[in-house]
Amino acid sequence: MERSAALFGVLLVLATVQWPKAVSSLYCKEMDSGVVRPHSVTITEFGAVGDGVTLNTKAFQNAIFYLNSFADKGGAELFVPKGRWLTGSFSLISHLTLSLEKDAIIIGSTDSSDWPVIDPLPSYGRGRELPGGRHQSLIFGYNLTDVIITGGNGTIDGQGGIWWDWFHNQALNYTRPHLIELMYSTGVVISDVTFVNSPFWAIHPVYCSQVLVRNVTILAPLNSPNTDGIDPDSSSNVCIEDCYISTGDDLIVIKSGWDEYGISFARPSTNISVRHISGQTGTGAGIAFGSEMSGGISEISVEDFHLMNSLHGIRIKTSPGRGGYIRNIYIKNINMSNVTIAIRITGRYGEHPDDKYDKNALPIIERITIQDIVGVNIGTGGMLEGIQGDNFSSICLSNVSLSVASNPPWRCSYIQGYSNLVSPELCEPLRQVPDQSAVCYGNEGLLLQESGASRLVSPFLKMALL
Ligand SMILES: *[C@@H]1O[C@H](CO)[C@@H](O)[C@H](O)[C@H]1NC(C)=O
Ligand SMILES: *[C@@H]1O[C@H](CO)[C@@H](O)[C@H](O)[C@H]1NC(C)=O
Ligand SMILES: *[C@@H]1O[C@H](CO)[C@@H](O)[C@H](O)[C@H]1NC(C)=O
Ligand SMILES: *[C@@H]1O[C@H](CO)[C@@H](O)[C@H](O)[C@H]1NC(C)=O
Ligand SMILES: *[C@@H]1O[C@H](CO)[C@@H](O)[C@H](O)[C@H]1NC(C)=O
Ligand SMILES: *[C@@H]1O[C@H](CO)[C@@H](O)[C@H](O)[C@H]1NC(C)=O
Ligand SMILES: *[C@@H]1O[C@H](CO)[C@@H](O)[C@H](O)[C@H]1NC(C)=O
Ligand SMILES: *[C@@H]1O[C@H](CO)[C@@H](O)[C@H](O)[C@H]1NC(C)=O
Ligand SMILES: *[C@@H]1O[C@H](CO)[C@@H](O)[C@H](O)[C@H]1NC(C)=O
Repeated sequence: MERSAALFGVLLVLATVQWPKAVSSLYCKEMDSGVVRPHSVTITEFGAVGDGVTLNTKAFQNAIFYLNSFADKGGAELFVPKGRWLTGSFSLISHLTLSLEKDAIIIGSTDSSDWPVIDPLPSYGRGRELPGGRHQSLIFGYNLTDVIITGGNGTIDGQGGIWWDWFHNQALNYTRPHLIELMYSTGVVISDVTFVNSPFWAIHPVYCSQVLVRNVTILAPLNSPNTDGIDPDSSSNVCIEDCYISTGDDLIVIKSGWDEYGISFARPSTNISVRHISGQTGTGAGIAFGSEMSGGISEISVEDFHLMNSLHGIRIKTSPGRGGYIRNIYIKNINMSNVTIAIRITGRYGEHPDDKYDKNALPIIERITIQDIVGVNIGTGGMLEGIQGDNFSSICLSNVSLSVASNPPWRCSYIQGYSNLVSPELCEPLRQVPDQSAVCYGNEGLLLQESGASRLVSPFLKMALL
C-alpha cells in the first residue's frame, strides 16, 4: 500500500512539472535575406569560361575588385550563369551578392596551390589538422558586412575527393580548406544553394555575428573525412533553418576555439537558433557541440530535427584542457531512426593542439535540456560521460521515447540532472524529477517569469517567450 501511494505521488509530480513550452527562433525572425542590389554584373563579362576546364580564379577576383566601387552605392551582384566554373580560392567584399543560376556550378580546383595558405585562427593556435597555416576556403571573406551567397539552387562543388585522398595518404602539408569561410563578418546570408564534396567543413562562420543560413543542401559521401556541414565558431546571433545535410561528419556543430588558444581568445558562440533540419551523417552527429569549445557556448536552441541512418543523434564533446563552458542549451522535437547512439556526452574527447594545454582547465557543462525526442531503431539510448571531479550538471531529459536494442540502454558517469517521461528508464543520477528548485534550462526561465521576476530570466529565453 505504502509503495503504491509513493508511486502515485511521483505520478502526480510528473503531471504538474512545468517544462518549457516553445522557444521560438528569435534570430531567424529578425533576419532578412531579400536585399536587392542596384548593380549587377555577370562573371562572363570578366572573361570567365564555364567549360569546367578553364581556371577562372582571375575572373572572379577581377569582377569582385570592380564591384568594390559600388560598395557605397547599395552594393552589387555578381551573377554566375548556367555552366561549370572552375576556380581557385577567391575573396568576397562587403555589400556583395554572389548569385548562382539554377544550373550554375562553381567548381574548386584540384591543384592545392590554387588554395593559398593563410594564418591559423587565433582561437586555434594552429591548423586544425596540422601545425602551421591552413588552406584558404574556396569562397573566403574577412572583416565584411552585408554579404549574400544565394541562387536558384546553384551548386558549389569543392571536388573534395582529392583532398580526402591526400588526407588518407598523409600527403597534406597544411589543414584542408572549407568551401566557405567568413571571418570577422556581420550580416551574412547563405541561402538556396547546394554545397557538395567539401574538402573539410563546408560552411565555417568564425568571429561572425548576424548570420543566416537558410534552405541549403549540403552533400558529401557518408564516409568522407571531417566533412561537417555547418560549423558556427565563436559566432553570435546565428540562424540556421530549413536545410538538408548528408555528410561524413557532424551536420551542424557549434564551436568556440581550442584549448589554451581558445581560452585566451575568449570569443564565445552564443544566441544560435537551429531549426527544421533533416539529414544523415556517417561518423558524426546530427547536432553537436565542441569538441572545440574553449571560448564558451551558450544560449542555443535546436528544434525540429529529423535524423536517420547515423552514428550519433545529439552530441557534446569536450575534454580536460578545454576550459570554457557549454550551458543553456535547449533541444526540442528531434526524430531519429536507425541511429547508433541517440545522445552522447563525452568528457574525455582528447585532441589537443599541442602539449602546452592546462590539464586543470576543466570545462563547465550545465543546463542542457533535451525534450520531446522520439527514436526508433536506436542502438544505445545514451552514453553520458562527464569528467571525474567535474560533474556535468542540470542535464535534463523530458518526454524522450526511444526503442533501444542495447542493454543497458543508458550509461552514465560523473553526470547529474533530472528527468521525466523518459523511456527506457534512465540511469540513476538523472532519475530525479525536476521540481520548483530544479535548474533545468527553460524550466527555470518559465518559473521565474511566472513569479514576475522577469529581469532574472535569461535574455535569450525572455525574448523568445514573448
Ligand atoms: C575592417 O574594416 C573596417 C571598415 O569596415 C576597417 O576600418 C578596418 O581597418 C578593417 N580591418 C582589417 C583588419 O582589415
Ligand atoms: C528553397 O530553395 C529552392 C531553390 O534552391 C527554391 O525553389 C525554394 O523556393 C526555396 N524555399 C524557400 C522556402 O525559400
Ligand atoms: C537542390 O539540388 C540538390 C542537388 O542537386 C537536390 O538534392 C535538392 O533537392 C535541390 N533542392 C531544391 C530545393 O530543389
Ligand atoms: C606538399 O608539398 C610538396 C613539396 O612542396 C608538394 O610536392 C605537394 O604537392 C604538396 N601536397 C599538397 C597536397 O599540396
Ligand atoms: C516527428 O514525428 C512526429 C510523429 O511521430 C511528427 O509529428 C513530427 O512532426 C516529427 N518531427 C520532425 C522534426 O520530423
Ligand atoms: C542504418 O544506418 C546504417 C548507417 O548508420 C546503414 O548502414 C544501414 O543501412 C541503415 N539501415 C537501414 C535499415 O536503413
Ligand atoms: C512528447 O513528444 C512528442 C513529440 O516527440 C509530442 O508529440 C508529445 O506531445 C509530447 N508529449 C508531452 C506530454 O509533451
Ligand atoms: C557527481 O555525480 C555523481 C552521480 O553521477 C554523484 O554520485 C556524485 O556525488 C557527484 N559528485 C559531486 C562532487 O557532486
Ligand atoms: C544575445 O541575445 C540577447 C537577447 O537578445 C542580447 O541581449 C545579447 O546582447 C546577445 N548577445 C550577443 C553576443 O549578441
